[in-house]
Amino acid sequence: MKEVIEYIESNSERYISELKEFLRIPSISTDTEKAAEMQEAAEFVSSQLTLAGMSAVDIFSTNGHPIVWGERIEDPDLPTVLVYGHYDVQPVDPVELWEFNPFEPTIREGQIYARGATDDKGQMMIHFKSAEAFIERNGRLPVNLKFLIEGEEEIGSVHLEDFIRGHVDLLKTDAVLISDTAFFARGVPSICYGLRGLAYMEITVTGPKGDLHSGSFGGPVANPAFVLSQIVAPMKDEDERVTIPRFYDDVVSLTQRESDEWAALPFDEEEYKAELGVGALSGEAGYTPLEQLWARPTLEVNGLVSGFTGEGAKTVLPSTAMAKISMRLVPNQDFKKIEKLFEDYVKSVAPPSVQVEIKRMHGGKPWVASLDHPVLVTAAKAIEAGFGKRPVFQREGGSIPIVATFTELLEAPCLLMGIGLPDENAHAPNERLDLDNFFGGIRSSAFFLDQFSAATHS
Ligand code: BES
Ligand code: ZN
Repeated sequence: MKEVIEYIESNSERYISELKEFLRIPSISTDTEKAAEMQEAAEFVSSQLTLAGMSAVDIFSTNGHPIVWGERIEDPDLPTVLVYGHYDVQPVDPVELWEFNPFEPTIREGQIYARGATDDKGQMMIHFKSAEAFIERNGRLPVNLKFLIEGEEEIGSVHLEDFIRGHVDLLKTDAVLISDTAFFARGVPSICYGLRGLAYMEITVTGPKGDLHSGSFGGPVANPAFVLSQIVAPMKDEDERVTIPRFYDDVVSLTQRESDEWAALPFDEEEYKAELGVGALSGEAGYTPLEQLWARPTLEVNGLVSGFTGEGAKTVLPSTAMAKISMRLVPNQDFKKIEKLFEDYVKSVAPPSVQVEIKRMHGGKPWVASLDHPVLVTAAKAIEAGFGKRPVFQREGGSIPIVATFTELLEAPCLLMGIGLPDENAHAPNERLDLDNFFGGIRSSAFFLDQFSAATHS
């Protein structure tokens, strides 16, 4: 291992310049004008996989963005690790709030700023670079290695499930390794063993066929902005519980063990509030902030538009109003069932004075793993070797829709070894990645492959 670690150290400058090259590609999956950039990012990934010694590298086209595949079967007797990641990134708006061009990676005080730095280009790349180090130093890997890198994670992994179903044998593995989550806090590495699921809906309320003078028509004609508020506001009660009937039916309650362990994590409510710039916390009554984030479902308004929002005052009764609403789900909620409950609820409360259209945007399954799996012990040791600190175990409030599918279809444990930081602005302006964590991640990845081989190979 010594030579492998030394190789990582002595190639650090080049690793950073390759990361920059990756970050320069504006691979925004929601943007239909970016098909060429998505292809370019897929090709960059495939060239990295070749550099990492993968013997079979392929780009599979789908009805959406391409999936990149790479594998190296070292020895059929060795265990296999499948690495999953995503090369797509979120849009950059509001772009005026960025300190640097989001696609011109810039390093300041040990952080690399760019869209995709932490989510997920920088994180996924740690596994390309650990594999490369083994190949360059030892001429071989300690495990059989497979890479499955998609371009649609940020839009709900729409085509990946079918791909997995169609390639179960190709994907056969002993563990799925993913770096797309964050440390508990700076200096506190973590292993994530649970993710929330997602049901994302869009509601459009339409009243009169065009905008009207709010004086000449306000009164007899329903105001869509107001009606939409009346539909949305009662979706949570004064205890911040979701009021949609049967919403909580399938929620698995939090275990005492988790509750105790989370209470022992270094979470400081005052610091949290100060960092976020909020005067007080809210959230479902009877649960701590970590419990609300990791073990309880919620409903959020992600966007709300209607009427006149420009400078000054314009008297207008808008013709339409639209809201984008997401519900984060926990085991064992089923996003399809929740989508239906949401639709039924909205239809039941919508007044006849307006028309309501409800669209299902994307969904994702929640996931939680057993804390007792031996792969977690191996991973904890690898992280300790890579970062010099034992990790804590945590869940996440965010979603990686395909993780539950991996568990179901590949029947292999998923290991979420994220190396981001909670304040690295994923999805927001000034996204960045800490470069010390990038290299700690590469070392941890190398230690994991080595120790997983030793632990599994009899
Ligand atoms: N890397 C994130 C998942 C994540 C979020 C991990 C928060 C840790 C903390 C992932 O790329 C992501 O943002 N997923 C989306 C999925 C959705 C668009 C289907 C999410 O959670 O919003
Ligand atoms: Zn991500």
